[in-house]
Amino acid sequence: MTNPLLFEEYPDLEGHIPWLNLLEGPTPIKSLANVEQKVQSKNFLWIKQDSLTSTIYGGNKVRKLEFILADAIEKDKTTVATIGGLGTNHGLATTIFGREKGLKTILYLINQPITKHVLDNLKLDFHFGAELKFVKNYLGVGLYFYILDPIRFHHIYWLPAGGSTPLGVLGYVNAAFELRNQVKEGLIEEPDHIFVAAGTVGTMAGLELGVQLAGLKSQIHGIQVTDRFAASKGKVKKLVNQTLQLLKQDSKLKNFQYSPRFILSTTFYGGAYGRVTPEGSQAVDLLGQSENIKLETTYTGKAMAGMLAYTKMYQRSGNLLFWNTYNAVDMTPIADKVDHSGLPVEFHRLFALYKNKLQ
Ligand SMILES: Cc1ncc(COP(=O)(O)O)c(C=O)c1O
Repeated sequence: MTNPLLFEEYPDLEGHIPWLNLLEGPTPIKSLANVEQKVQSKNFLWIKQDSLTSTIYGGNKVRKLEFILADAIEKDKTTVATIGGLGTNHGLATTIFGREKGLKTILYLINQPITKHVLDNLKLDFHFGAELKFVKNYLGVGLYFYILDPIRFHHIYWLPAGGSTPLGVLGYVNAAFELRNQVKEGLIEEPDHIFVAAGTVGTMAGLELGVQLAGLKSQIHGIQVTDRFAASKGKVKKLVNQTLQLLKQDSKLKNFQYSPRFILSTTFYGGAYGRVTPEGSQAVDLLGQSENIKLETTYTGKAMAGMLAYTKMYQRSGNLLFWNTYNAVDMTPIADKVDHSGLPVEFHRLFALYKNKLQ
């Protein structure tokens, strides 16, 4: 790929905004005709497969990291430190693509319900060379990630949770232009509503700003999957406005006014990050059985449950697009080969607890 669409749209940005290529081309769009039939939807249902952003490791982080890692390299940093739950997909993506670009990674991890996916991601973090720090909760994050360690270590690029910084958000502004091109090519009718998981809300903020810049009528529905500290309407608006400031380096955007039109739905959260909900599980099963598409219960199952509830409730809404943010590359063959005893000792207990739970 030569340049991001963003630089084609706004040529003044090139050279002012850091970027490197990780995405392997536009991600496919597909009709969810079988789901439509199963749930007797009067609306047209579609999926945008950001699960296929990369054949190394897919999902939504790839788009954010194109701008973030370029910034770290431009600032001469040798290491990226970031935060997440024990099974953070964002942390794993940062580790994998950071390594590709010669950067080390440190992950500050907090507790979350333990599943096989969580333990596999921990093993993969270790396998791909991340240094793992178990800081347990928000207090630990505040103390070590935000206060003590930044004072001590200057070679480190401090990346907030989910890569949801204005630069990370640009990845999804860019994605909205990709969607606009796919609409122009006739691959999908212009979506009336777009549904996406809202964790640290960078993805939805990028889409919210991007569809407006790209002249699409779509309304963004973020389905909240984390607590209010990570996901709130105020945070979406703040991220959109900060990202817009970056974009205003292009003369075309000097007078652009953003007016919020997104919805942040709390209905499918289930009260805790990572908690499995019945609606989320049903959505995962439905997509697996009828379309052979793999979702999971922490993010994408809940977001799909949001779209399914919407189509049931609002029968004449037109085209609904589900933005699939979950990596589709099967990492289990690698994870299965990793011996967890190599991880720092404070993580061993988690593997033992999970084994006991299964017995
Ligand atoms: C699979 C998946 N979907 C969605 C998200 C949420 O994206 P954001 O943090 O930009 O809201 C994440 C974040 O880690 C994720 O791993």
